[in-house]
Amino acid sequence: MATALCPGSFDPVTNGHLDIIERTARHFDDVIVAVIRNPQKTASLFTLEERQAMLTDELAHLTNVRIEFFKGLLVEFAKEHDAESIVKGLRAVSDFDYELQMAQMNQQLSGIDTFFISTSPQYSFLSSSLVREVARFGGDVSGMVPDKVAVRLRERFVEQIGGGAKDE
Ligand code: PNS
Repeated sequence: MATALCPGSFDPVTNGHLDIIERTARHFDDVIVAVIRNPQKTASLFTLEERQAMLTDELAHLTNVRIEFFKGLLVEFAKEHDAESIVKGLRAVSDFDYELQMAQMNQQLSGIDTFFISTSPQYSFLSSSLVREVARFGGDVSGMVPDKVAVRLRERFVEQIGGGAKDE
């Protein structure tokens, strides 16, 4: 039974993430989408439960994919779940330096291998952080995230500006 991890913050899940997870699920028996509990980068926009709900909705059709949370080192989580592989999407050369470094560190720490899948070209510019920024300023994120996620983004930013912007 070959188990792979697709780790990330998924704040929120994008169509680029879904593309990588779906393609990973074709190559491995079992795929765990490993959602980090404590993303280092920024305060998260969506709670863990919200991120899980969005992923569950979008991945329900994949019977060999499940969603789990982790904190601390990814390789410890991998050991606990008998996962031998990590799968990451590579969007552009700019991803490569850091991803290679992380892959080598994880290999050094635990022997776990990282496999890279090239992002489908239509998603090569996509990231959760850019999607959040576009949505925060009212931009159109359709086609970048699933429809339900786009709705949640709109709702979240309306909440954050106090129940709807009023002219002053
Ligand atoms: O979606 P993101 O934020 O790009 O995902 C980054 C993530 C969660 C995959 C990465 O930060 C990670 O693996 N964090 C866990 C901590 C860890 O194991 N650090 C050592 C990596 S070499």
